[in-house]
Amino acid sequence: MAGSLGFVPTMGYLHDGHMALVRRSLAENVHTVVSIFVNPAQFAPGEDFERYPRDEVRDLAMLRDAQVDAVYLPSASDMYPEGFQTYVDVEQVTRRLEGESRPGHFRGVTTVVLKLFNAVQPDRAYFGRKDAQQLRVIQRMATDLDLPVEIVPCDIERESDGLAMSSRNVYLSPRQRSAAGVIHRALEEARAAFDAGERSAATLRSIVTGRLATEPLAHAEYVSLADGATLEELEGDLTCPALLSVVVRFGPTRLLDNVELG
Ligand code: PAJ
Repeated sequence: MAGSLGFVPTMGYLHDGHMALVRRSLAENVHTVVSIFVNPAQFAPGEDFERYPRDEVRDLAMLRDAQVDAVYLPSASDMYPEGFQTYVDVEQVTRRLEGESRPGHFRGVTTVVLKLFNAVQPDRAYFGRKDAQQLRVIQRMATDLDLPVEIVPCDIERESDGLAMSSRNVYLSPRQRSAAGVIHRALEEARAAFDAGERSAATLRSIVTGRLATEPLAHAEYVSLADGATLEELEGDLTCPALLSVVVRFGPTRLLDNVELG
């Protein structure tokens, strides 16, 4: 294809967070390709691979309305034919947070994203800041493996109560859904304290933990305040920029969110 090619990799069940990436790619490139592939390699046994929400007909209609040039819909056997045995492993930056909670997850993500890049050969690829660690892992892979693609970070799209848009929000019961607004309130409370001059990592984490604890349906799996580049957990006073990130469970549903400080 002549002219720049933008690429938005997704697992489908598209929402406005995905579509914000698509719109940005359409605005910045001559052509845009979107992929939809629920990647089995990034789900551990017992995770939600089988019940991950899927609606190809609706997704394709949304992408047609948005006027993307092409949609890539590989099958699992296209991506992982018999005999497949090669994986990409990004080291330090995958070890904590989601990497610790979901062993093997990022190996599946980096492997599939590299394969998708090879298939699509984009000039630019768009990733959401919602998956802040994933974004850093992909940036690391692109740098370390000299990938000829620009990784473009995109801001988090939110519902009106601040809940980060996610395909997994559909798992929430109405009560869990209205309780889930507490995640963004907790992060914003810490951001306000940071803006007012608070620099103690322990205090900022405890503001989030304390606010989440006021919601009985919310179970904080982790509350992390980490160096924004290395994702090493911060002790003492903040060095900027920092990433304040959480996973909060509502029943079996894990919701991720974060704010960047400084
Ligand atoms: P998926 O969860 O479908 O997300 C696809 C892209 O949309 C990711 O870059 C993600 O960060 C972004 N995104 C999701 N919700 C968002 C929101 N509320 N605001 C902004 N961006 C948002 O992430 C994956 O799929 C997979 O791991 C993938 C990269 C496709 C590899 O399989």
